[in-house]
Amino acid sequence: MEKRENIFLKKSFVAITGASRGLGRCITLQCAVKFHPNSVLVLMARNVEALKSVRTELKATTPNITVLVRQYDQGKTDEGYFNGIFDSLLTENKLSKDDFEQVMLVHNCATSGDKEKTALQLCDADRVRSYYDINLCGMILLNTSFFATFCDPSLSRVVVNITSLASQRPMPPLHLYCAGKAARDMFFRVLSAEEPSIRVLTYAPGPIDTDMMRDMEANVSSTSFRKMIKGLREDGKLLTPKETAADLIQVLEDNTFDNAEYLSNYV
Ligand SMILES: NC(=O)c1ccc[n+]([C@@H]2O[C@H](COP(=O)([O-])OP(=O)(O)OC[C@H]3O[C@@H](n4cnc5c(N)ncnc54)[C@H](OP(=O)(O)O)[C@@H]3O)[C@@H](O)[C@H]2O)c1
Repeated sequence: MEKRENIFLKKSFVAITGASRGLGRCITLQCAVKFHPNSVLVLMARNVEALKSVRTELKATTPNITVLVRQYDQGKTDEGYFNGIFDSLLTENKLSKDDFEQVMLVHNCATSGDKEKTALQLCDADRVRSYYDINLCGMILLNTSFFATFCDPSLSRVVVNITSLASQRPMPPLHLYCAGKAARDMFFRVLSAEEPSIRVLTYAPGPIDTDMMRDMEANVSSTSFRKMIKGLREDGKLLTPKETAADLIQVLEDNTFDNAEYLSNYV
């Protein structure tokens, strides 16, 4: 097998979605310490104040990394919304594509969707559409925008698709979430077949104690699902975002994963 070098050694331009809290925040904080100095991290989410607070934390720990904040809403699929995001970021910050040996896009942003209804109760087209706008359509459009800017196949290019066990296993009542994650995984398998020069990591982090998990615990309609989460919490099986981010970073350092193959941290 071809020996690939640790992904963090290259001077990189890295965009991380959902960097304002939860797993994305921890991935950002831990990646920044690892990356080659003079790399650029772009933190993306809706809550700009939360992103700025992550940037402030980073300034203290990793002064050599340039941190940019880019507010966006992944559910905004109006024409042109995603076009040129990364071209503008480069121009506005007087950066050039040629400044980097590697580019990386971490698709971490996600929502869990309608948890109160069963699959047969989904009758509101706007709600279903809006779920897939954020979790599928917006993610694809952002991805296209990123690789339109960084289109040179000789550049080292990496994409991280944060997936879930839910893409492999039906988890009532997370119908929209399961179907969305499965669709994303397959999207990246196709992308990987079309563009073999892009390294694709499809990584499932396992159950993490974040806002998403707490929201499920409080609002999911299924009693058995709520009990299952409660059991994980009581048995100490919910991971912290810090533990999960550390595992992901190890996977990127080892850099032995198969492109777009589902890789799980689920224990
Ligand atoms: N928690 C788990 O147990 C678990 C298990 C398996 C997989 N995962 C996956 O891990 C990833 C992170 O999950 P998490 O638990 O950290 O979730 P979380 O705490 O709910 O955080 C979600 C992130 O996505 C951003 N986001 C949500 N809607 C957005 C939108 N419309 N536009 C742009 N950004 C948006 C949020 O930022 P703003 O609100 O500031 O926009 C936030 O930074 C997700 O892909 C999730 O599916 C989680």
